[in-house]
Amino acid sequence: MIESDIEAVLAIEQSSFPAPWKRDHFQHEIEAPHSFAFVSECAGKVAGYVCLRSLFEESQILDIAVAPDLRGRGLARQLMEHACSLAREKGAEVVALEVRDGNHAAISLYERLGFVRVGLRSRYYEGRDDAVLMEKNLQGDYLDAVYSHDPV
Ligand SMILES: CC(C)(COP(=O)(O)OP(=O)(O)OC[C@H]1O[C@@H](n2cnc3c(N)ncnc32)[C@H](O)[C@@H]1OP(=O)(O)O)[C@@H](O)C(=O)NCCC(=O)NCCS
Repeated sequence: MIESDIEAVLAIEQSSFPAPWKRDHFQHEIEAPHSFAFVSECAGKVAGYVCLRSLFEESQILDIAVAPDLRGRGLARQLMEHACSLAREKGAEVVALEVRDGNHAAISLYERLGFVRVGLRSRYYEGRDDAVLMEKNLQGDYLDAVYSHDPV
């Protein structure tokens, strides 16, 4: 993500969340040393984005969304896979995230990618909806990759 992407990112953000991030949030994620923000593009336009913070053993997915008219094409999966492989490169052992309970599309996306539920924060969103805490262990991922390449 670069500064000139922010306008398009904000439009997707506003159509995706009841309490959307503001310009300053994205500006910060572009500039902060341990933050990594990526966009995916379709026909030269921003189609989706993911923001990752990676510090030592733990990385966190802070934000991910895909434009409503471009959902269901595998873009979020690609963004998440990219974020997780960067986290692994940066030395993270775990990727963590929070998701609104009842956000079935996002929870299903994360479960497909190997995230598991590790906790719940009660009434975390606007004092109303619970947050499901999820994590993916990257070490297990690495071992799976090694074993799957071993000759039997
Ligand atoms: C959640 C979101 C990012 C998914 O983006 P997407 O590009 O449509 O997702 P993908 O096409 O990559 O789908 C990957 C997997 O996610 C799950 N998924 C995606 N949309 C789904 C839906 N509407 N219902 C159920 N599962 C869904 C499926 O498991 C899917 O795998 P499959 O295609 O093999 O079945 C998108 O719906 C979005 O931007 N939502 C609003 C913002 C948001 O909620 N972000 C998450 C905050 S924690």
